[in-house]
Amino acid sequence: MAMAMAMAFSPWFTPWVFLFLIVGCTARPFYPLPSKEAEGTRKPLQTSHPYNIAHRGSNGELPEETAPAYMRAIEEGADFIETDILSSKDGVLICFHDVTLDATTDIYQHEEFANRKRTYEVQGVNTTGFFTVDFTLKELESLRVRQRYPFRDQQYNGQFTIITFEEYISIALDAPRVVGIYPEIKNPVLINQHVKWPGGKRFEDKFVETLQKYGYKGSYLSKEWLAQPAFIQSFAPTSLIYASNLTDLPKILLIDDITIPTQDTNQSYWEITSDGYFDYIKKYVVGIGPWKDTVVHPYTYRNENQFLHFNFHQDPYEEYDFWINKIGVDGLFTDFTGSLNNYQEWTSSLSSNDSDNRRASKLLHKIAAMITAYEKV
Ligand SMILES: *[C@@H]1O[C@H](CO)[C@@H](O)[C@H](O)[C@H]1NC(C)=O
Ligand SMILES: *[C@@H]1O[C@H](CO)[C@@H](O)[C@H](O)[C@H]1NC(C)=O
Ligand SMILES: *[C@@H]1O[C@H](CO)[C@@H](O)[C@H](O)[C@H]1NC(C)=O
Ligand SMILES: *[C@@H]1O[C@H](CO)[C@@H](O)[C@H](O)[C@H]1NC(C)=O
Repeated sequence: MAMAMAMAFSPWFTPWVFLFLIVGCTARPFYPLPSKEAEGTRKPLQTSHPYNIAHRGSNGELPEETAPAYMRAIEEGADFIETDILSSKDGVLICFHDVTLDATTDIYQHEEFANRKRTYEVQGVNTTGFFTVDFTLKELESLRVRQRYPFRDQQYNGQFTIITFEEYISIALDAPRVVGIYPEIKNPVLINQHVKWPGGKRFEDKFVETLQKYGYKGSYLSKEWLAQPAFIQSFAPTSLIYASNLTDLPKILLIDDITIPTQDTNQSYWEITSDGYFDYIKKYVVGIGPWKDTVVHPYTYRNENQFLHFNFHQDPYEEYDFWINKIGVDGLFTDFTGSLNNYQEWTSSLSSNDSDNRRASKLLHKIAAMITAYEKV
C-alpha cells in the first residue's frame, strides 16, 4: 500500500491505483497516507503562523476537489483542506465547486445525459447547464473530473471521480498529522429549492449532521476542535446563523465582490461589510474570508502571472510576504499548497526568535479578540 501511494503522485500515475483505494472500503472509505509517525502520535495542528488552506486541494497540480488533489495537499503541508459542498438529486452531499458540471467534468461525453440540460435562476442570474441537483450520486460517480484551467497540467483529466463529503472527511481523518477541514455551505438557496430530505430537513441540517457524525465539534481552539479542526464557511449569512443554532464549530463569512447581492439576503456585500453589520454578524462567526482585493482568511492565492497583483513582480512569494507580514492575515487559501509551505518554511528558518515570537503573540491576540467577539446564540 505504501508503495502504491508513493507512486500515486508520480507522473505515471494510473487510474487503477486510485480504484484500488476505493474498492478497499469498509464502513467508511479508508485513505491511508504515507506516514513516518506511529499510530496515535499525530502531530498537532500548528497555530504559530497563518494557516495554509489548500483551496479545493492542490488544484494547481491536480483536478480540483478530487481525492488525489486533497491527498497531495496534505503531503505538501496543508493545515486545512478546503472544499465546496453541494448535493446530488438523491440528497447525498458531494464535494464540487460549480452548481453545474460543465466546466470541470466530462459530462459532454455522456450521451445518456444529453437531455438533462436545464436553466435555473442562480443568485438572480439565469444559468444554463448540467446541474448536480439533477443527477443521482450513482450518476455523478460515473463522470470523471478535469482540470478547470487550460494553462494547467491536463494529464490527469478523466481519471478521478467526484467524491462525497464523507469521503473528503475520511481523507482528513486518515492524514498522518492533524489536518483540518474547511467545507463551504455552497449555494444553499438553490440546493434547498431543488433537493428535499425526509422530515423536512434542510441542506444546512444535513451538512452539520455529517460533521457531527464524524465527531467534529467545539468552539475555535477548544480541546475538541484542536483534535479535529473544522471551519464552516459560507457566502450566505442566513445559513451561518441557522447553523450556529446546530453547532458551535467556528464559522467564517465569505465576502464576495462588494457590489453584488448576497445569496440569501437582499443586501449587497457592501452593506454587510458595514461596521453595523459586523457588530451583528460577529455574534455568529469568528472571522471573515474576503477576496484578496477587498481584505482574516483571504482567497485565492495562485502562482500564475494572470492571478498575481501587479506590484509583486510576478513572484507569488512576494505576494505571500505582503499579506502575511504587512497585513497580518491569519490564514490564506491557496491553489499551490506546496509554494505557501515552502515560503513559510524558508522564512521561519531565516527569522530570529524575536520576530517569531512577535508573530505568534500577534496571532494569539487576534484569536483572543475573535473569541471575545463570539457569543453563542
Ligand atoms: C429567467 O428566465 C425566465 C424565463 O425566460 C424569465 O421569466 C426570468 O425573468 C429570467 N430571470 C432573470 C433573472 O433574468
Ligand atoms: C434557534 O433555535 C431556537 C430554538 O429552537 C429557535 O427559536 C430560533 O428561532 C433558532 N434561531 C435561528 C436563527 O434559527
Ligand atoms: C429586494 O429589494 C428589492 C428592491 O428594494 C425589492 O423590490 C424586493 O422585493 C426585495 N426582495 C426580497 C426577497 O426582499
Ligand atoms: C532562540 O533563543 C534561545 C534562547 O535565547 C536560544 O537558545 C535558541 O538557540 C534560539 N533559537 C533560534 C532558532 O535562534
